[in-house]
Amino acid sequence: MPHRTIEELIAQLEEKRRAVLAGGGTERIRKQHESGKLSARERLERLFDPGTFVELDMFVEHRCTNFEMEKTAAPGDGVITGFGQVNGRLAYAFAQDFTVVGGSLGEMHAQKIVKLQDLAMKMGAPIVGINDSGGARIQEGVDSLYGYGSIFYRNTLASGVIPQISVLVGPSAGGAVYSPALTDFVFMAKGIAKMFITGPDVIKAAIGEEISAEELGGAMAHSQRSGNAHFACDTEEELFATLRTLLSFLPQNNLEDPPRTEAGGDPRRTDELLTGLVPTIPSKPYEMRDLIVRVVDGGDFLEVHRHFAQNIVVGFARLNGQSIGIVANQPRVMAGCLDINASDKAARFVRFCDAFNIPLLTLVDVPGYLPGSDQEFGGIIRHGAKMLFAYSEATVPKVTLIVRKSYGGAYLAMCARHLGADVVIAWPQAEIAVMGPEGAANIIFRKEIKEAEDPEAKRREKIDEYRQNFSNPYQAAKRGFVDLVIQPKDTRPTLITAFAMTATKREQRPRKKHGNIPL
Ligand code: HXC
Repeated sequence: MPHRTIEELIAQLEEKRRAVLAGGGTERIRKQHESGKLSARERLERLFDPGTFVELDMFVEHRCTNFEMEKTAAPGDGVITGFGQVNGRLAYAFAQDFTVVGGSLGEMHAQKIVKLQDLAMKMGAPIVGINDSGGARIQEGVDSLYGYGSIFYRNTLASGVIPQISVLVGPSAGGAVYSPALTDFVFMAKGIAKMFITGPDVIKAAIGEEISAEELGGAMAHSQRSGNAHFACDTEEELFATLRTLLSFLPQNNLEDPPRTEAGGDPRRTDELLTGLVPTIPSKPYEMRDLIVRVVDGGDFLEVHRHFAQNIVVGFARLNGQSIGIVANQPRVMAGCLDINASDKAARFVRFCDAFNIPLLTLVDVPGYLPGSDQEFGGIIRHGAKMLFAYSEATVPKVTLIVRKSYGGAYLAMCARHLGADVVIAWPQAEIAVMGPEGAANIIFRKEIKEAEDPEAKRREKIDEYRQNFSNPYQAAKRGFVDLVIQPKDTRPTLITAFAMTATKREQRPRKKHGNIPL
């Protein structure tokens, strides 16, 4: 057989490439679009900086012969993997291609993902997994289970080493949901993403309950109710734009600091409007996000878990160009009480920030833990302990600002000095005490109130006395538990100076295999 010319070889290469780039073919791509979804390649285009994506392993093929699978062509084996730049920095991504065997995961599909995970770990760069799949490829049986297991194993090894982000833009059912669950952030697109362990049909057959797929496993179900998703986006366009913003706050890996940007606004900017932000009546709510956006660079705050446990707010922002993670009580929801979900949400966020060298700002206005048997039986003791654990274990710079209430165990849980806060600042209206004035007065002055001529008047007098003497920042400041009491208007410059002071922080901990956070 005569040697083929280079022109012929190039033509062959291009022909092979074309076949893979066509994915499952025009008809299936049309169906994909009709169902409101982008194709896998369109998704990668939205994620990466234009023209930077390099595809790996495009010629990988499955080797399954069960159920006549040898007759089924599966370009790229149903997943596109590669690397490129996001905001000018290296990132890895895989996108399951639903037009190819339903994006189902078989042996070779999994091996492509596993190779990418290994590369991302070695190079120390984030990895994004775009999930749109029918789950384990049924024809490949245990080979697909081996594939999932290998991915989960690497998700776990990579945890705390490189940022791992999951995108759900299609079905993800059964054990397949556990790779997203093991990663740091889960994005879901409304209307198209569905995630559940057992779907509506199985639930109906097993326990007779009727529920739609959207209600059970849609973006809002997981971002509002279960907390499995951190971002619920209206469109895929919005999703990838938000994901790119998220990455802009993060370092590439655990050995790097987050990228610094130009300072967004004057670092010495004071703000008189902060003076009136917190109502003088302690029980009156206000919007904690107003404080956040008035203080951080450019008012830019990327909120994480916006719909879940809304009594606490967490997210990323910058102060003088430096990424910070913010944890803040939200007085507008349940008066800002801590409960099971808020504790889980905050503790996980704190641990992420600590793993990736992102300093923590804690904004405190918390009356305490939410009372009730639901909370007690649900394990608030165990869940609440996660916050104590996460803050105590965190060695990143920790600055705490007590805005108003800070009582009892919740005072401690919101990164008090005693859990290792490096700087504790209070506004003059801060109320730092073992419990609120009403509760305290009722207990310690019970006898006096009961025996008074007008018990109600006495009660009010005692509450007021307690508030004057104890519900203020100065008792804690006397002990050095609060370092600075500042005027609200000076918050931004004070926080910037505090974080600048902590920039060289070094804190050693005893060597251990790992701690045992109450799960
Ligand atoms: C092989 C699959 C597949 C799978 C879909 N396909 N899922 N092939 N293995 N798991 C194929 C279909 O045969 C079809 O091929 C094409 O993908 C598109 O699927 P449709 O059913 O036409 O699409 P749609 O109507 O949109 O329905 C999507 C779906 C449905 C809801 C995901 O396909 C479905 O229920 N699939 C099975 C889901 C499942 O039970 N997976 C196993 C879960 S257990 P053609 O050639 O007709 O286009 C699991 C365990 C993981 O994942 C354990 C990890 C620890």
